[in-house]
Amino acid sequence: MTAKDLLDPDKIKAGLKTNRIGSDVIVFGSVSSTNDIASEYANNPDNDGLVILAEEQLSGKGRGGNRWLSDKGKSVLCSVVLTDESISSELLSLTVAVAVADTIGEPAKIKWPNDILLDGKKVGGILVESKQTKAGAAFIIGIGINCHQKKFADDLSSTAISLDMKRKGLRDRTTIIKRLFGSLEDWLIEARENPAAVIQAWQELSTQLNHRIAVIFNGKEFTGTCVGIDPEKGLILELDHGGRQFFTSQQTSIKK
Ligand code: BTN
Repeated sequence: MTAKDLLDPDKIKAGLKTNRIGSDVIVFGSVSSTNDIASEYANNPDNDGLVILAEEQLSGKGRGGNRWLSDKGKSVLCSVVLTDESISSELLSLTVAVAVADTIGEPAKIKWPNDILLDGKKVGGILVESKQTKAGAAFIIGIGINCHQKKFADDLSSTAISLDMKRKGLRDRTTIIKRLFGSLEDWLIEARENPAAVIQAWQELSTQLNHRIAVIFNGKEFTGTCVGIDPEKGLILELDHGGRQFFTSQQTSIKK
Protein backbone atom coordinates (compact mmCIF):
# COMPACT_ATOMS: atom_id res chain seq x y z
CA MET A 1 0.00 0.00 0.00
CA THR A 2 1.48 3.35 -0.99
CA ALA A 3 0.83 6.75 0.59
CA LYS A 4 -1.43 7.70 -2.30
CA ASP A 5 -3.74 4.78 -1.46
CA LEU A 6 -4.29 5.97 2.13
CA LEU A 7 -7.57 7.61 2.97
CA ASP A 8 -7.15 11.36 3.41
CA PRO A 9 -9.85 13.14 5.47
CA ASP A 10 -9.31 16.40 3.55
CA LYS A 11 -9.92 14.68 0.22
CA ILE A 12 -13.02 12.99 1.63
CA LYS A 13 -14.38 16.30 2.97
CA ALA A 14 -13.53 18.30 -0.17
CA GLY A 15 -16.69 19.25 -2.07
CA LEU A 16 -18.98 17.15 0.14
CA LYS A 17 -22.57 18.14 -0.52
CA THR A 18 -23.86 16.77 2.78
CA ASN A 19 -24.96 18.89 5.75
CA ARG A 20 -24.89 16.15 8.34
CA ILE A 21 -23.08 12.93 7.44
CA GLY A 22 -19.35 13.63 7.34
CA SER A 23 -19.72 16.87 9.35
CA ASP A 24 -16.37 15.73 10.68
CA VAL A 25 -14.23 12.83 9.46
CA ILE A 26 -11.46 11.11 11.40
CA VAL A 27 -9.25 8.50 9.73
CA PHE A 28 -7.27 6.02 11.80
CA GLY A 29 -4.55 3.63 10.62
CA SER A 30 -5.22 0.60 12.76
CA VAL A 31 -7.99 0.32 15.34
CA SER A 32 -9.78 -2.47 17.20
CA SER A 33 -13.17 -1.56 15.76
CA THR A 34 -14.37 1.74 14.29
CA ASN A 35 -17.70 1.17 16.08
CA ASP A 36 -15.93 1.11 19.45
CA ILE A 37 -14.13 4.40 18.70
CA ALA A 38 -17.34 5.98 17.40
CA SER A 39 -19.14 4.87 20.54
CA GLU A 40 -16.82 7.08 22.63
CA TYR A 41 -17.51 10.08 20.39
CA ALA A 42 -21.26 9.41 20.64
CA ASN A 43 -21.16 10.62 24.27
CA ASN A 44 -20.88 14.18 22.96
CA PRO A 45 -24.14 15.35 21.31
CA ASP A 46 -22.15 17.79 19.15
CA ASN A 47 -20.75 14.83 17.24
CA ASP A 48 -23.90 14.12 15.23
CA GLY A 49 -22.77 13.13 11.72
CA LEU A 50 -19.15 12.47 12.69
CA VAL A 51 -17.60 9.58 10.76
CA ILE A 52 -14.76 7.35 11.96
CA LEU A 53 -12.82 5.54 9.22
CA ALA A 54 -9.93 3.10 9.48
CA GLU A 55 -7.50 1.41 7.14
CA GLU A 56 -7.49 -1.70 9.31
CA GLN A 57 -9.50 -3.25 12.14
CA LEU A 58 -7.91 -5.76 14.48
CA SER A 59 -11.23 -6.81 16.06
CA GLY A 60 -13.85 -5.82 13.50
CA LYS A 61 -17.32 -6.67 14.76
CA GLY A 62 -20.18 -8.26 12.86
CA ARG A 63 -23.71 -9.01 13.96
CA GLY A 64 -24.41 -11.69 16.53
CA GLY A 65 -20.88 -11.65 17.92
CA ASN A 66 -19.34 -12.55 14.55
CA ARG A 67 -16.02 -11.09 13.45
CA TRP A 68 -15.66 -8.79 10.43
CA LEU A 69 -12.41 -9.58 8.64
CA SER A 70 -10.70 -7.19 6.22
CA ASP A 71 -7.25 -6.79 4.68
CA LYS A 72 -5.48 -3.52 5.43
CA GLY A 73 -6.37 -0.68 3.04
CA LYS A 74 -8.77 -2.73 0.93
CA SER A 75 -12.18 -1.88 2.42
CA VAL A 76 -14.42 0.90 3.52
CA LEU A 77 -14.50 0.47 7.30
CA CYS A 78 -16.70 3.20 8.60
CA SER A 79 -18.80 4.15 11.64
CA VAL A 80 -21.23 7.04 11.62
CA VAL A 81 -22.29 8.70 14.88
CA LEU A 82 -25.91 9.84 15.11
CA THR A 83 -26.73 11.69 18.34
CA ASP A 84 -29.91 13.34 17.08
CA GLU A 85 -31.94 10.70 15.28
CA SER A 86 -35.67 10.28 15.92
CA ILE A 87 -36.49 7.26 13.73
CA SER A 88 -36.76 3.77 15.25
CA SER A 89 -33.76 1.44 15.19
CA GLU A 90 -35.73 -0.93 12.95
CA LEU A 91 -36.36 1.77 10.33
CA LEU A 92 -32.79 3.00 10.73
CA SER A 93 -31.43 -0.45 9.94
CA LEU A 94 -33.58 -0.66 6.76
CA THR A 95 -32.62 2.87 5.75
CA VAL A 96 -28.90 2.19 6.07
CA ALA A 97 -29.22 -1.03 4.04
CA VAL A 98 -31.00 0.87 1.25
CA ALA A 99 -28.37 3.65 1.39
CA VAL A 100 -25.46 1.20 1.15
CA ALA A 101 -27.07 -0.78 -1.71
CA ASP A 102 -27.75 2.53 -3.46
CA THR A 103 -24.10 3.54 -3.02
CA ILE A 104 -22.87 0.34 -4.62
CA GLY A 105 -25.50 0.56 -7.34
CA GLU A 106 -27.01 -2.15 -9.48
CA PRO A 107 -27.01 -5.11 -9.15
CA ALA A 108 -26.52 -4.82 -5.36
CA LYS A 109 -29.29 -6.42 -3.29
CA ILE A 110 -30.28 -6.52 0.37
CA LYS A 111 -30.51 -9.67 2.42
CA TRP A 112 -32.29 -8.71 5.63
CA PRO A 113 -31.22 -7.62 8.10
CA ASN A 114 -27.70 -6.49 7.36
CA ASP A 115 -26.15 -8.07 4.28
CA ILE A 116 -25.49 -6.28 1.01
CA LEU A 117 -25.04 -8.79 -1.80
CA LEU A 118 -23.56 -8.85 -5.29
CA ASP A 119 -24.25 -12.01 -7.28
CA GLY A 120 -25.58 -13.62 -4.11
CA LYS A 121 -22.31 -13.02 -2.24
CA LYS A 122 -21.69 -10.59 0.59
CA VAL A 123 -20.02 -7.34 -0.46
CA GLY A 124 -21.05 -5.29 2.57
CA GLY A 125 -22.34 -5.58 6.10
CA ILE A 126 -24.01 -3.23 8.55
CA LEU A 127 -23.89 -3.23 12.34
CA VAL A 128 -26.19 -0.68 13.99
CA GLU A 129 -25.55 -0.24 17.71
CA SER A 130 -27.32 2.11 20.10
CA LYS A 131 -26.34 3.54 23.44
CA GLN A 132 -27.83 5.72 26.12
CA THR A 133 -25.74 8.81 26.85
CA LYS A 134 -26.23 11.67 29.34
CA ALA A 135 -27.69 13.67 26.44
CA GLY A 136 -30.05 10.89 25.25
CA ALA A 137 -30.01 7.98 22.84
CA ALA A 138 -27.30 7.74 20.20
CA PHE A 139 -26.73 5.36 17.30
CA ILE A 140 -23.46 4.06 15.91
CA ILE A 141 -23.83 2.83 12.34
CA GLY A 142 -21.00 0.52 11.34
CA ILE A 143 -20.58 -0.17 7.64
CA GLY A 144 -18.06 -2.44 5.98
CA ILE A 145 -17.73 -2.60 2.18
CA ASN A 146 -15.30 -4.99 0.47
CA CYS A 147 -13.61 -2.89 -2.23
CA HIS A 148 -10.25 -4.07 -3.48
CA GLN A 149 -9.84 -7.60 -2.08
CA LYS A 150 -8.81 -10.07 -4.77
CA LYS A 151 -9.51 -13.16 -2.70
CA PHE A 152 -10.93 -14.12 0.67
CA ALA A 153 -9.95 -16.67 3.31
CA ASP A 154 -11.04 -20.23 2.47
CA ASP A 155 -14.13 -20.25 4.66
CA LEU A 156 -15.34 -16.98 3.10
CA SER A 157 -14.36 -17.59 -0.53
CA SER A 158 -17.75 -18.98 -1.56
CA THR A 159 -19.79 -16.34 0.30
CA ALA A 160 -17.82 -13.05 -0.01
CA ILE A 161 -17.10 -10.76 -2.94
CA SER A 162 -15.50 -7.34 -3.46
CA LEU A 163 -16.45 -4.50 -5.79
CA ASP A 164 -13.29 -5.11 -7.84
CA MET A 165 -14.08 -8.80 -8.25
CA LYS A 166 -17.41 -7.84 -9.82
CA ARG A 167 -16.45 -4.82 -11.90
CA LYS A 168 -13.56 -3.91 -14.12
CA GLY A 169 -12.11 -0.45 -13.58
CA LEU A 170 -11.02 0.59 -10.15
CA ARG A 171 -13.31 2.80 -8.10
CA ASP A 172 -11.31 4.37 -5.32
CA ARG A 173 -12.49 4.25 -1.73
CA THR A 174 -12.66 8.05 -1.42
CA THR A 175 -15.25 8.19 -4.21
CA ILE A 176 -17.25 5.37 -2.63
CA ILE A 177 -17.13 7.03 0.81
CA LYS A 178 -18.32 10.39 -0.54
CA ARG A 179 -21.16 8.66 -2.35
CA LEU A 180 -22.02 6.71 0.83
CA PHE A 181 -22.27 9.92 2.88
CA GLY A 182 -24.60 11.51 0.32
CA SER A 183 -26.75 8.41 0.05
CA LEU A 184 -27.03 8.04 3.84
CA GLU A 185 -27.94 11.68 4.27
CA ASP A 186 -30.63 11.55 1.57
CA TRP A 187 -32.17 8.28 2.78
CA LEU A 188 -32.22 9.44 6.42
CA ILE A 189 -34.19 12.52 5.38
CA GLU A 190 -36.54 10.28 3.38
CA ALA A 191 -36.95 7.94 6.39
CA ARG A 192 -38.09 10.85 8.55
CA GLU A 193 -40.36 12.50 5.98
CA ASN A 194 -41.65 9.56 3.97
CA PRO A 195 -40.82 6.15 5.51
CA ALA A 196 -43.00 4.44 2.86
CA ALA A 197 -40.36 5.40 0.27
CA VAL A 198 -37.69 3.52 2.26
CA ILE A 199 -39.97 0.47 2.54
CA GLN A 200 -40.64 0.63 -1.21
CA ALA A 201 -36.92 0.83 -2.01
CA TRP A 202 -36.14 -1.99 0.43
CA GLN A 203 -38.78 -4.20 -1.21
CA GLU A 204 -37.32 -3.57 -4.66
CA LEU A 205 -33.84 -4.49 -3.43
CA SER A 206 -34.77 -7.46 -1.22
CA THR A 207 -33.62 -10.99 -2.10
CA GLN A 208 -36.11 -12.46 0.36
CA LEU A 209 -39.43 -10.82 -0.45
CA ASN A 210 -41.93 -13.46 -1.63
CA HIS A 211 -39.43 -16.23 -0.86
CA ARG A 212 -39.60 -18.95 1.73
CA ILE A 213 -36.98 -18.42 4.41
CA ALA A 214 -36.06 -19.71 7.84
CA VAL A 215 -35.20 -17.44 10.76
CA ILE A 216 -33.97 -17.99 14.29
CA PHE A 217 -35.85 -15.89 16.82
CA ASN A 218 -35.06 -16.18 20.53
CA GLY A 219 -33.30 -19.47 19.82
CA LYS A 220 -36.30 -20.97 17.97
CA GLU A 221 -36.59 -21.66 14.24
CA PHE A 222 -39.50 -20.29 12.19
CA THR A 223 -40.11 -20.94 8.49
CA GLY A 224 -42.44 -19.10 6.17
CA THR A 225 -42.74 -16.76 3.22
CA CYS A 226 -41.44 -13.22 3.56
CA VAL A 227 -44.40 -10.99 2.68
CA GLY A 228 -43.00 -7.59 3.64
CA ILE A 229 -41.27 -5.41 6.18
CA ASP A 230 -42.66 -3.14 8.88
CA PRO A 231 -40.68 0.01 9.82
CA GLU A 232 -41.27 -0.61 13.55
CA LYS A 233 -41.81 -4.36 13.93
CA GLY A 234 -39.43 -5.82 11.35
CA LEU A 235 -39.66 -8.67 8.86
CA ILE A 236 -43.14 -10.11 8.21
CA LEU A 237 -43.40 -13.86 7.64
CA GLU A 238 -46.47 -15.79 6.56
CA LEU A 239 -45.64 -18.84 8.65
CA ASP A 240 -45.77 -22.36 7.18
CA HIS A 241 -47.96 -23.49 10.06
CA GLY A 242 -50.33 -20.55 9.64
CA GLY A 243 -50.53 -16.94 10.77
CA ARG A 244 -48.26 -13.94 10.36
CA GLN A 245 -45.40 -13.00 12.64
CA PHE A 246 -43.05 -10.01 12.89
CA PHE A 247 -39.33 -10.46 13.52
CA THR A 248 -37.20 -7.57 14.78
CA SER A 249 -33.65 -7.32 13.46
CA GLN A 250 -32.17 -7.14 16.96
CA GLN A 251 -33.54 -10.51 18.03
CA THR A 252 -33.54 -12.41 14.75
CA SER A 253 -30.96 -14.05 12.51
CA ILE A 254 -31.42 -15.74 9.14
CA LYS A 255 -30.84 -19.50 9.18
CA LYS A 256 -27.92 -20.33 6.90
C1 BTN B 1 -22.24 -7.94 9.62
O1 BTN B 1 -22.37 -8.16 8.43
O2 BTN B 1 -22.36 -8.82 10.47
C2 BTN B 1 -21.94 -6.53 10.04
C3 BTN B 1 -20.55 -6.13 9.67
C4 BTN B 1 -20.22 -4.71 10.03
C5 BTN B 1 -18.76 -4.40 9.79
C6 BTN B 1 -18.43 -2.96 10.00
S1 BTN B 1 -16.80 -2.57 9.50
C7 BTN B 1 -16.91 -1.01 10.26
C8 BTN B 1 -17.67 -1.19 11.56
N1 BTN B 1 -16.77 -1.52 12.64
C9 BTN B 1 -16.97 -2.77 13.09
O3 BTN B 1 -16.31 -3.31 13.98
N2 BTN B 1 -17.97 -3.35 12.40
C10 BTN B 1 -18.54 -2.45 11.43
